[in-house]
Amino acid sequence: MSEQNRFDRDCDPDLVGESPFTDGTAGFSTRAIRVGHVRTAEGEHCEPIFATSSFVFSSAAEAAARFAGETPGNIYSRFTNPTVRAFEQRLATLEGGEACVATASGMAAILATCLGLLKTGDHIVSSRSIFGSTTMLFDKYLARVGIHTSYVPLPDLDAWAGAIRPETRLLFAETPSNPLAEMVPIRPLAELAHDRGCLLAVDNCFCTPALQRPLTLGADLVIHSATKYLDGQGRCVGGAVVGDAKRVGEDVFGVVRTAGPSMSPFNAWLFLKGLETLKLRMQAHSDNALALARWLGSHRAVAGEHYPGRETHPHHHLVGTGPHAQQSSGGGILAFAVRGGRQAAWQVIDATRMLSITANLGDTKSTITHPASTTHGRLSPEAREAAGIGEGLIRIAVGLEDIADIQADLARGLGQLSG
Ligand SMILES: Cc1ncc(COP(=O)(O)O)c(C=O)c1O
Repeated sequence: MSEQNRFDRDCDPDLVGESPFTDGTAGFSTRAIRVGHVRTAEGEHCEPIFATSSFVFSSAAEAAARFAGETPGNIYSRFTNPTVRAFEQRLATLEGGEACVATASGMAAILATCLGLLKTGDHIVSSRSIFGSTTMLFDKYLARVGIHTSYVPLPDLDAWAGAIRPETRLLFAETPSNPLAEMVPIRPLAELAHDRGCLLAVDNCFCTPALQRPLTLGADLVIHSATKYLDGQGRCVGGAVVGDAKRVGEDVFGVVRTAGPSMSPFNAWLFLKGLETLKLRMQAHSDNALALARWLGSHRAVAGEHYPGRETHPHHHLVGTGPHAQQSSGGGILAFAVRGGRQAAWQVIDATRMLSITANLGDTKSTITHPASTTHGRLSPEAREAAGIGEGLIRIAVGLEDIADIQADLARGLGQLSG
């Protein structure tokens, strides 16, 4: 194809909404870089930010046809926006889904999914070790409208099966879990869901499609907090739901366009840029985290470390290229315990000079947090104990700084502890 033809094709207004490479035949990184951008007549090389609240029609008849849904096209940015659509198309192809709906946050993605697909009287079975706000959404707000949730230990397929009731409609799994990186085998969980007439949603924010693609393993829906690795540089908040054209493209989209937790085009542009380097970053996060886990595992002050990329992790068989593997590498999150409980853990955290003391994750900057007093602080001590979140546990979202500098920052505090 000549350069002239390539340019003509990308500028063709008839192709709006049909960017090149969406058919999934190109490689992952090619799609992460190229899908979604349909050049305007200006011939811009980088995706434009469509900073506009509404769109103009050429006539009253065109406006009427657009509103009636008789002709495709943009109306108002709460409904659709070209920059947001570019991000949706790009993420959909990376996850292997027919449709993607972008949202203002990861929590908005979970809310829109539940409002779009569930009704009063329906029941959810969820893994216990999910993000705290997700638990709050299920237990406080969805329960208020008569949608109730039961919790099960993530890896225990028998517990999932036992918790399903006649009115269960949705199984919700966050795998790997935070902060212990426990996992559930997605394929059998999807089979269980379908045998019992339920949908399976997987929160894939820790792995991203660069490491794990739940839809290809049988899940029906993938949820993202794009705030994490999809952006990758801690710049903005966003979310997404990926799945089939009916459930996501119509039912979940209907909630977002009506209720309005839509993604801003500015944020969509940042997420588009984030996706371009996703594969490289996820591999680099995994490499750094594996090196750090090995180093921590042999440190005299460390009482145990949890990283799924290491053979020592109970669910390591689900990582890599083996017959049961569902995620290609361990990802960037690890946890480790120090002897001496909260006081010792806080001492290690407070001795750092480079690592950021913050609960966010998925950033090029490494972050460190004490789950028992922050992300999991609202759980009762008994519930924390049951979840394996001890007072001496520290979570690190391993960033992309040089591994020697990350180790040196931790060595300072660890060296102060008696081993
Ligand atoms: C696994 C997981 N899911 C969902 C969310 C919610 O995402 P957001 O903060 O973008 O609303 C988070 C946020 O930390 C998370 O860690």
